Amino acid sequence: MTGLFSLKGKVALVTGASRGLGRAMALALAANGAHVVVHGRNQAGIDITAAAIRAAGGTATPLAFDTTDSPAADAAVDRIEADLGHLDILVNNAGYGNGRTASEASNAEWDEIIDVDLNACFRLARRASAGMIRRRWGRIINISSVNAHIAREANASYCAAKAGLEGLTRALAVEWGPHGITVNAIAPGYMMTPDNRDTKLRADPQQHDRFAQRTALCRWGQADELDGAVVYLASNAAAYCTGHVLVVDGGMTVKI
Ligand SMILES: NC(=O)c1ccc[n+]([C@@H]2O[C@H](COP(=O)([O-])OP(=O)(O)OC[C@H]3O[C@@H](n4cnc5c(N)ncnc54)[C@H](OP(=O)(O)O)[C@@H]3O)[C@@H](O)[C@H]2O)c1
Repeated sequence: MTGLFSLKGKVALVTGASRGLGRAMALALAANGAHVVVHGRNQAGIDITAAAIRAAGGTATPLAFDTTDSPAADAAVDRIEADLGHLDILVNNAGYGNGRTASEASNAEWDEIIDVDLNACFRLARRASAGMIRRRWGRIINISSVNAHIAREANASYCAAKAGLEGLTRALAVEWGPHGITVNAIAPGYMMTPDNRDTKLRADPQQHDRFAQRTALCRWGQADELDGAVVYLASNAAAYCTGHVLVVDGGMTVKI
């Protein structure tokens, strides 16, 4: 594909791309020309996403590691640079909440969420930035959440981590802007991923209508409804956009 949104010649790493939003964004970036490094911990899951990209005519490399394992994450970025020549786009998507109340969560449970949703994103961005700075071009896209802006019960560590990720987005945008790197975030609302559909909504079916009615569009998002946002922020169409949080929530955070 040519034009404003083309990612031809770019290499993108999408963390947590074995399923859910990461898988959809990996497919979208590949469909727009990027070679996508499909990441997750589970080899079978990332192999399936990589095969789907190839079946659609794109190119992909599966790469498994735990983002909270700092030496493994550093080694993965170095390997991408060595094997593929360059890493141009980092989508920090791997993350989750644990549903523990602030009163009950152990220190270890708190630390785990901050580690996955914030610390690991910082460390990957810092490692990836070295090559981006040398080449004077880079895109870092952090996947936040509406929970950085509005809180829900039993989610304090997640709300804090995602709010921290948005602060980090602004700080890195300022620090690395002079080197040609843009750093932005996407804050999704409630999206109908397989995990939400098959696990969380099955456990609490009333959540479906409750959250749908909280949005201006009166529905949940589909798993592929971040695709336009991630392609935009990765492409030259967003060359002058940095330090921004693009909220994709069906209007949940603007509705009283
Ligand atoms: N779904 C929503 O409604 C929603 C709303 C707002 C924000 N978000 C954010 O969007 C992102 C994706 O959410 P999702 O719902 O698509 O998640 P998901 O379906 O639970 O998938 C999470 C992905 O992250 C990977 N992952 C998790 N921890 C990891 C670790 N320590 N190291 C490596 N990989 C790890 C998993 O890989 P393995 O399977 O290989 O372990 C999986 O590919 C998250 O940051 C989430 O907070 C989601």
